[in-house]
Amino acid sequence: MRAADRRQLAELEQLRRAIEEHNYAYYVLDAPTVPDAEYDRLMRRLTEIESAHPELITPDSPTQRVGASPIAQFGEIRHNKPMLSLENAFDEAEVAAFGKRIGDRLRAAGFDAGDMAFVGEPKVDGTAVSLRYEDGIFVLGATRGDGSVGEDVTHNVRTIAGVPLRLRGKRLPRVLEARGEVYIPKRAFEELNRRAAERGEKTFVNARNAAAGTLRQLDPRITASRPLNVFFYGLGEVDGWDLPETQSGILKALQAFGLRTSPEWELLEGIQGCLSYYETIGKKRAQLPYEIDGVVYKVDRLQWQDALGFVSRAPRWALAHKFPAQEELTTVRDVEFQVGRTGALTPVARLEPVFVGGVTVSNATLHNMDEIHRKDVRIGDTVIVRRAGDVIPEVVSVVLDRRPAKARVVELPSTCPVCGSDVVKAEGESVARCVGGLYCAAQRKEAIRHFCSRRAMDIEGLGPKLIDQLVDQDLVRTPADLYDLTADELMKLERMGEKSAEKLLRALDKSRETTFARFLFALGIRDVGEATAVALARAYDSLDSLMDATEEDLQEIPDIGPIVATRIHSFFQEEHNREAIKKLLAKKVHWPKPQAPSAVAAHPLSGKTVVLTGTLSSMTRDEAKEKLTALGAKVAGSVSKSTDYVIVGESPGLKAQKALELGVDVRTEQQLLDWIKAAPE
Ligand code: IVH
Repeated sequence: MRAADRRQLAELEQLRRAIEEHNYAYYVLDAPTVPDAEYDRLMRRLTEIESAHPELITPDSPTQRVGASPIAQFGEIRHNKPMLSLENAFDEAEVAAFGKRIGDRLRAAGFDAGDMAFVGEPKVDGTAVSLRYEDGIFVLGATRGDGSVGEDVTHNVRTIAGVPLRLRGKRLPRVLEARGEVYIPKRAFEELNRRAAERGEKTFVNARNAAAGTLRQLDPRITASRPLNVFFYGLGEVDGWDLPETQSGILKALQAFGLRTSPEWELLEGIQGCLSYYETIGKKRAQLPYEIDGVVYKVDRLQWQDALGFVSRAPRWALAHKFPAQEELTTVRDVEFQVGRTGALTPVARLEPVFVGGVTVSNATLHNMDEIHRKDVRIGDTVIVRRAGDVIPEVVSVVLDRRPAKARVVELPSTCPVCGSDVVKAEGESVARCVGGLYCAAQRKEAIRHFCSRRAMDIEGLGPKLIDQLVDQDLVRTPADLYDLTADELMKLERMGEKSAEKLLRALDKSRETTFARFLFALGIRDVGEATAVALARAYDSLDSLMDATEEDLQEIPDIGPIVATRIHSFFQEEHNREAIKKLLAKKVHWPKPQAPSAVAAHPLSGKTVVLTGTLSSMTRDEAKEKLTALGAKVAGSVSKSTDYVIVGESPGLKAQKALELGVDVRTEQQLLDWIKAAPE
């Protein structure tokens, strides 16, 4: 070999190692150590050398994740060690019985099993896989199948960024089969379904099906485009390596090999420890970026696991303790329409009460008529309802097999169920509206609710129930009337004592001092969210000049298009809106003079183009967009040369790769949070 070739080979190896290190820190430790620009540079250099010398490409090179072409069909893989399932428990008594059973068995076998140690792990709702590494190189990926024979999904497993193509460490086993769960993060799942629905394609019922379906794609390019991830929790066949003595030891060893394990696993003491772990994880469930359907307890000591053995296809030494289901079947008794702030009629399904997600649910939103048609929900239907965390319950789909002959089609009412005004549905819009405006009590209530809300005038203590009473008794017709309320009037209302009346009056008084942007947002102009309100407040130094702005003037503001410009313009032209504003100002609602434009422009994101990819853990995509816009950034949907920053969350998609290729500055969610923190008030 020539010296030059040797040098190149050495560089190649060095590049691959460095990239693997970075991947490990990023995907497994969740703690990037190298700046992204450095990663890009390494990846570009590696691609450059490999395209000049294709003969030097190895299957474990970080460039080789997506194979070239789809496969024709799946091969079969026989598991040398069967892939087992778990016994389920649904309540504490069943968990206690499990503890007693294994304690008795171990003592009978002569072990001193006092308060024994368990490992608690989240039961991630995805699909089980077995990954085979030979001499540290990834060679085979298989699904569980029937437990004995699975399918060969190697081509797809390779595309999962969190799966190392080569294990870390010096002394690697000759054979190591790592078992784990492949999953799709919640937000990625929602995005996948949203896009499928947009294209009129079939949506996945849940994240588990989406993960399983994605892993069973014949074309690895489709798999690569969806951000799957994986947690490893156990071992299959192992050769040429000494097993640790405990399950916790196995989890640590997996992590050290570079195989991602759940950061939520814990070593627990006795059944009491298991039960409190269940509670802790249950509380975290809604915040976790992936779906879990319970926790798994495993006897920590492998020697005891061996002594306990198996019953049919499940180990005696492990138990899945399930959370209450987040999806249940029930029937639709009726569909009623609620009227919102802008007059929008929202259909709500009245359901046969059902216990789901830990609460009894009797109503679920159906969003709009298009949604009813798309899901084909009829009165009398059996439906799947879902309630996850604190999210509003929703109808997922209809069980068509169970549709009764007398099921009734839902019809949009022609008049408002609250005020009797006409209901109109504009061409091409999915939302139907009551034209009653502030004549409609429902719209008045919602307008006042919005005005008082935390992000608007922030009037503490003025909840929906109270607003209902104020409007129903005609004490308040417009927001300005709130400032005329007296303690006597308030004390006549239900559940209002002297103390709370005074407290509310103080809160009202305090709310008079606000900001221009909050005031504009509080007015409830259609399509003017917080970000637009901030943009308006920034562009106009007084309310008068904004009220006199023409549609053309308004369109000059970044991100205000013709439709929103028309809405703003016509809102301020409307005489009763001008009147309502005048009244508010007469009640001494005021705000400081707007900041000098230079102070705003000083934010590092001002005028920058930003693209988001992957799942953010601290906010939704929409929230992030809203915040970025408020900082003066433009949020784009795809990465190009003119992108200034790409912000990556968990399991970033192809956008991150594109950013690397184009050399765009890639930043983490933490950086985003820092930027938001640095924003001027
Ligand atoms: S252990 C020998 N641990 O649950 C025990 N399974 O109902 C084998 N699962 O097929 C399974 N998270 O797909 C285990 N931390 C975890 C798990 C887990 C999810 C799934 C796995 C398995 C199914 C069994």
